[in-house]
Order: sequence, then C-alpha cells, then structure tokens
Amino acid sequence: MNKSRLSLFVLALAAIFGASFGAREFRAQNAPAVVPPLPSAQPQIAPDILPRQASPVAPAPVAGAVAHRATAIPDRIILSFQTNPARSQAVTWRTDASVSAAVAQIALASAYPKFVETARTVEAQTSPLQSDLGLAHYHSVNFAGLAPSTLYAYRVGDGTNWSEWIHFRTASEGAEPFSFIYFGDAQNEIKSLWSRAIRAAYSDAPRARFMIHAGDLIDSANTDAQWGEWANAGGWVNSMIPSIVVPGNHEYGQNAGGIKRLSRHWRPMFAMPENGPRGLEETCYFVDYQGVRFIALNTEEQQREQAVWLEGVLQNNPHKWTILTFHRPMYSSAAGRDNVALRNLWMPIFDKYRVDLVLQGHDHTYARSKNLRAGVNVKNDQSGTVYVVSVSGPKMYDVKRQPWMARAAENTQLYQVVSIDGNTLRYQARTVTGELYDAFDLVKKSQGVNRLVERVPASSERLRPAKAAAPTSR
Ligand SMILES: [Fe+2]
Ligand SMILES: [Fe+2]
Repeated sequence: MNKSRLSLFVLALAAIFGASFGAREFRAQNAPAVVPPLPSAQPQIAPDILPRQASPVAPAPVAGAVAHRATAIPDRIILSFQTNPARSQAVTWRTDASVSAAVAQIALASAYPKFVETARTVEAQTSPLQSDLGLAHYHSVNFAGLAPSTLYAYRVGDGTNWSEWIHFRTASEGAEPFSFIYFGDAQNEIKSLWSRAIRAAYSDAPRARFMIHAGDLIDSANTDAQWGEWANAGGWVNSMIPSIVVPGNHEYGQNAGGIKRLSRHWRPMFAMPENGPRGLEETCYFVDYQGVRFIALNTEEQQREQAVWLEGVLQNNPHKWTILTFHRPMYSSAAGRDNVALRNLWMPIFDKYRVDLVLQGHDHTYARSKNLRAGVNVKNDQSGTVYVVSVSGPKMYDVKRQPWMARAAENTQLYQVVSIDGNTLRYQARTVTGELYDAFDLVKKSQGVNRLVERVPASSERLRPAKAAAPTSR
C-alpha cells in the first residue's frame, strides 16, 4: 500500500469509528432502546430497516403446546349453571398442574373498589386433565346462597395468582324479561373465523343472560388447541355471561378400544346441571330461567332414556315457555342427513307438550320453520313448535329446500338473539356482519298454540348460485 492510499484508509477508518461512536452517544442521550445484535455476521442494521426479502422457508407455526400452555394464572374461565340460576352460579377455569389448592372469591359488586374486603372465599374442586398438549388442572366452584337479581363480583385463583374481578348477575326468582344468544356449530377455524361470531353477538346483545351452543363447538373432540381456541374466541365474555352447552357428534371421540366417548375436556371445562338421566350428566339436563324451562338433550347417546326423562320434565313444567336445544335436527336442512328414527322417538313428545322453540345445529346451513302442526312436515300457521337449524362457524353445506322452511341460508355465519317478555318471544337471526336475516315473534294465547308473527326482512335469501345442470348427451 503506498502512502496516499494508506492515509485514505486511515481517514475512512476514522470516519467509520466516529460515526459509530456518534450514534452510541446519541442513543445514550435520547432513547433507552437497544437494538439487539443480529445473530449472523451481517452488518448491523436496525430491524425496522431490514430489506424485505422473500424467505425461502415459511415461518414455523407456534406449537400448540406453546400457544395453549397453561400457567398458574387462571385462563379458560367459563360461567355456567349447575343449580338454580337465581341462587347460584358455577364457574370453571384452568391452570397448570402447580395449582392444586384453587379458590374463588365472591362479593356483592360495588362501584366502591373496597368491595373486595367483603369477599368470601370458596374452595374449588380440582381435577387433572392429561390432554394431547400436556397436563393441566381444571377447577370448579358453584357459588351458592346468592340473592336473586343481584350483581356480584368474583375472581378465581390460588391465593397469589388471581384473575381480574368479574361481574355477573343472578336470575330473578320469577318470570322477568330477558334475552339470550344462540349459536349453531362453531367447529372449524375457531380462532380465525368463529371469534367474530361470538364477538358480534356480544356487541349486539351485551345484556344477554347466557349463550346457548347447540353442539359441535370444536371439530376434534380431544384436541386441546381447539378447546383453547374456543375459550379464547369468547375470552372474557365467557367469564361474564354463562354458557349452556350441548355436545354434538364432534364432541365425541373414540377411546383406545374404538368406543365412542364424550370428549375428556367436556366435564372439566363446563359445570352443567346433573339433573338428567344417569350416564348423561352435564350433557342432558334442564335449567329454569325467569319463567322459561330450557331443556338440553344429547343426540349422541341414550336417546330412549332421554325420551322417558323428557316426558317427566315436560309433564311437571310450571313455566309458560319451553325451549329445547340439541345438536342433530328434527328436520334436516341439508341433503341426506334426515334423522327419521330420532324424530319418531322425540317429536311426538315435543308436540304433546307444545314445546315452543327448538334450537339445533349439525347441518351447517340456516333453516327456520313455521310453527309445525304436530308431526306434520308442512308449513302450518295454526299450531306446533318452531324449529331452527343455524351455523356460526365457517363450514358450509348446501340447503335442501323443503316446504317447512320459512327462511333459509347458505354460506352465512349467523348468531341469534332471543328475547322473552311476558307472553311474547322475539327471535332475531343476524349475520356476523350485523344484518338482520330472519325474525319472528311467538305470542302466547290463553289456550292452544302460539300465534306466529313473521318479521322476515325484505332482503332476499342468501343462497348459492344454482349449480349448472349436468350436460345432457344428444
Ligand atoms: Fe354435527
Ligand atoms: Fe357440525
């Protein structure tokens, strides 16, 4: 290197070090941010000015065991009814296996934050659950001795790691106006696409007293990540508004011997009533809520035992309104999915006791009947029960158009809000984008059947374009 080149080199070095020192000085004076060194020997460039380059390898998905890992902090907090909703409130939640002495606290809710000093503590029941992602503990408390129509605050934890304080309101003892939300199958792409259904429903009806899920909440009965997505989609809504859940065929998996079994997540995750037939605890039950008897049936097993039990529950029903929910519909809205045997078994009982409304899932379409005359599959404005099939998740089937359908839809995620006030039941189905899609009122008459008042909006039905006819040979 000759002399002039050497001096140019020294000058260049001085410029580089000077600039570098200057930058460090500037950061020290003006900002706490430290740009972490890049792992490679590449020149150090702040990440926000890294040139965008097509990566030859797609980013790896975060493993389910990481994305859905339990910690000592409670998650999957879900309210439900285990006993009288006017006097009690059940809650379940999840932690990691380090928490074995879980507790919940409850107090009358007050705007004065020192209400927390009046809280009483209740010990939880804890059960371990070994899922495909690992071991977790599920905890359950049924707050008892509550006052009707009262706002409470509660939290769950282990004495150190707590949830936030969360409000819920108990039911009144007698008939009072209220609303609830009903969802058909969530099932697929729960985080990605079902979350908007539950969030839209909550935004539309934030005072709803509970949410009915008519089965197929998830797709794969024992896949923990799907239950995690379901719990996260509702998030804190699930901890404020109780859920009434019934299992669908997708809540059933097979055990090692090939026997059909209820998801092992079901009973730890939900605390439903145990007032149904033996062997169907927390999957077949009834809840009385402010003048309405809600009956949940399990279409997946012991259908005959449920028919006997149902007759007793309807015979001794002191309430003005009766609403049923279960998964496989009495009248299928899709092709090739008719449930003739189940309909012949259960529907005569619905007719005999004049069930008002039946909320179902399974067919991944929307279809709503007029009030059907006893056992007759035709439109009839004079008598009978209103049947609904709905879908809230993104999996979509074809509608098989039938005479009983007053309104139908394909390719549409929906939620429903039902309000009951004295002699009037008001039903609205909305798309997840908030448009009113279907509506009717049922009005109780002193004797006989309900009067059905159609309130279908003027918009046309959302149906797939007719399929092109198959080419005919000439
Ligand atoms: Fe299903
Ligand atoms: Fe389904």
